[in-house]
Amino acid sequence: MSSEVDLPAQAAAGFCGEAETVYPMRLQRFLARAGVASRRGSENLMTAGRVTVNGAVVTELGSKVDPRCDEVAVDGLPVKWGSAPVTLMLHKPAGVLTTMDDPRGRPTVAQLVPVDRYPGLYPIGRLDGDTTGLLLFSTDGRLGHGLLHPSHHVSKSYLACVDGAPSEGALERLREGVLLDDGMTAPARAELLAGQEAEAALALLAVPEDGAPSGTGERRRMLAEARRKNRSVVRLVLSEGRKHQVKRMLAAVGHPVLALHRERFGPLGLGSLAQGDWRELSADELCELEGALAHGAPSR
Ligand code: URA
Repeated sequence: MSSEVDLPAQAAAGFCGEAETVYPMRLQRFLARAGVASRRGSENLMTAGRVTVNGAVVTELGSKVDPRCDEVAVDGLPVKWGSAPVTLMLHKPAGVLTTMDDPRGRPTVAQLVPVDRYPGLYPIGRLDGDTTGLLLFSTDGRLGHGLLHPSHHVSKSYLACVDGAPSEGALERLREGVLLDDGMTAPARAELLAGQEAEAALALLAVPEDGAPSGTGERRRMLAEARRKNRSVVRLVLSEGRKHQVKRMLAAVGHPVLALHRERFGPLGLGSLAQGDWRELSADELCELEGALAHGAPSR
């Protein structure tokens, strides 16, 4: 019995659909959220007699524990509660739902991130099923809550492939605020991309639904098709996050969205992260996110 079971833990209250943590809590939930095993795996550990609370073996699945005062151990090794939370970004592909569980069995983001290793992971906000791009996950409820709270105005930058080419007047309307059925939108940044930037964005937005990397020939074909069909790319940077907001705003100014990608969340970008891949945030990126919460995120 040497060191502690030193695993990442869900440190704080839940968010994005997860109920606030109430103490005492069920022992298997505690184990899962401390990163020991999945909920089912934790139940197996308990029924196998490998879990103790304050030195006594607990096999009863309904047993409760208070992480603030009870000492839980697995195979004699103490389980830490409240150690470093985990925050990561996923490059979400199209055709995947932003939910941790779909009763209808459709593909979800939960299948793309390491929920077994970090059971308390939850998405920070959501992207539509057909939207690609940067989606943050965290076990840190405080961070998730803060980043989504409207008072912090953390910016999100989107690239939207739209039907037609918005005029300067339409862009100005997007900047000043558009009347949607749930009220006026806050001021936003809106620009029509041109030249190489537009071409790069069109290539990014035209990635096939199955996420397969497109070859040079295929990419050229898609770009040509986009030009032929008079599509263009708008960068829209929002400081609020209403449901389907980008699609509704662009539809309201007469340019329905054909494909949508989130390129930045606050100060963070995807860099070279491939579609379908995830990576943990670096210490610097976490500091930048905290900075965005404190001061509002700088946007490009
Ligand atoms: N706005 C939308 O319309 N869809 C998204 O997925 C994100 C923002």
